[in-house]
Amino acid sequence: MGGTALVGIQWGDEGKGKVTDLLAEHTDYVVRYQGGNNAGHTIVVEGERYALHLVPTGVLYPHCTPVIGPGVVVSPPVLIEEMDALQARGVDTGKLLLSGNAHLIMPYHLELDRVIERRLGKNRLGTTKRGIGPAYADKAARIGIRAQDLLDSKIFGRKLEVALKEKNLLLTRIYGRLPIESSAIEDEYLAFGIRLSAHISDTTHVLHSALDRGDHVLFEGAQATMLDLDHGTYPYVTSSNPIAGGACAGAGVGPRDIDRVIGVCKAYCTRVGSGPFPSETDPADAEILVDVGAEYGTTTGRKRRCGWFDAVAGRYAARLNTLTELVMTKLDVLSAFETIKVCVAYQYKGHRYEDFPPNQTIFNKCRPVYEELPGWSEEIGGARKAEDLPKGARSYVERVEELLATPVSWVSVGPSRDHTVKMGYG
Ligand code: IMP
Repeated sequence: MGGTALVGIQWGDEGKGKVTDLLAEHTDYVVRYQGGNNAGHTIVVEGERYALHLVPTGVLYPHCTPVIGPGVVVSPPVLIEEMDALQARGVDTGKLLLSGNAHLIMPYHLELDRVIERRLGKNRLGTTKRGIGPAYADKAARIGIRAQDLLDSKIFGRKLEVALKEKNLLLTRIYGRLPIESSAIEDEYLAFGIRLSAHISDTTHVLHSALDRGDHVLFEGAQATMLDLDHGTYPYVTSSNPIAGGACAGAGVGPRDIDRVIGVCKAYCTRVGSGPFPSETDPADAEILVDVGAEYGTTTGRKRRCGWFDAVAGRYAARLNTLTELVMTKLDVLSAFETIKVCVAYQYKGHRYEDFPPNQTIFNKCRPVYEELPGWSEEIGGARKAEDLPKGARSYVERVEELLATPVSWVSVGPSRDHTVKMGYG
């Protein structure tokens, strides 16, 4: 058995946690490969609801080893707090592995995320303010501090000094903030290092051995394709690569280690933060989607922006990720509508775009071209087989399959594991 990549194909919050739950029984390792605690994975296991931000969802299954790969940015206090909270609920975190190469989110990254957003004013990105962008910027500038540095006080002190010299100039001279003292950070972070030392390891080697043995490894994407730094709606993106290809760089495996790529989409679209969103609904429909779909962010509690299913972005994501299948979540929410729109193309200056436009201006200014499909009024939470779904719901799923040229293997009709309909494929 090879690896499976699980990726969101929209703007995040597609319900990837639920799919991990469906796959968990046959999974040995669950690996986070990018992002940090900007993510919010909600997962319901045996009636218990967990909202995880940094720890891979595999932690909830005793037979799984959760792995935080080198491509993730990690806030040690957040990681420790999340582990403690899980332990307090009886979830064993002893098997968690943290790559020594993962970069750390430091207190100055949090401060910078806040002041940069404030300075951008109306051009702000609407980040989660978790220090993600500044931490990845330091990684690229090669002044980042990594998890393994926590285990060597001398190296940690030296790296912190180099980083703080620059950050304090920025904070005091550009942003008018107070400088950050190194001594407080040093003591606190070295103590975090002692606490995390048993978990810090060579996760790349661990995963190679696992894959060579034939274990099943699940690469769990956070955020989603349209938030990808290189392929999403730049600059309104996150600072990492959530696409399936990102799993290779972020976990240290090769493309041939992944033979199944599952794309997760909601039956409609949501987005938090700023940025273009061609299929955004009118306020009345958005209110229904927010209400029925409980569309509030897991990480920041922000109300999500809502839109109709965007098949142009979906087709782009299907190809970028080389999806082998799709899982569609929250189909039950659409029972609230008499007719359902699907964005099948974009229109800009008299030109129709069926493919994702190459230019940001087009994407920013285009208008959606909708196809309107009949809805169904029945409650579908009780459906368990494709035949249980009303004709309208089945036709809707089939139309999405056709538009994305990708088969749908499961449809989710509610939050728990039971609320799942297995379709023809998978
Ligand atoms: P950052 O990742 O905190 O830098 O935020 C950059 C953009 O990504 C913002 O628009 C965020 O709202 C968005 N974002 C980051 N993480 C998530 C997520 O887990 N779900 C949805 N949007 C996210």
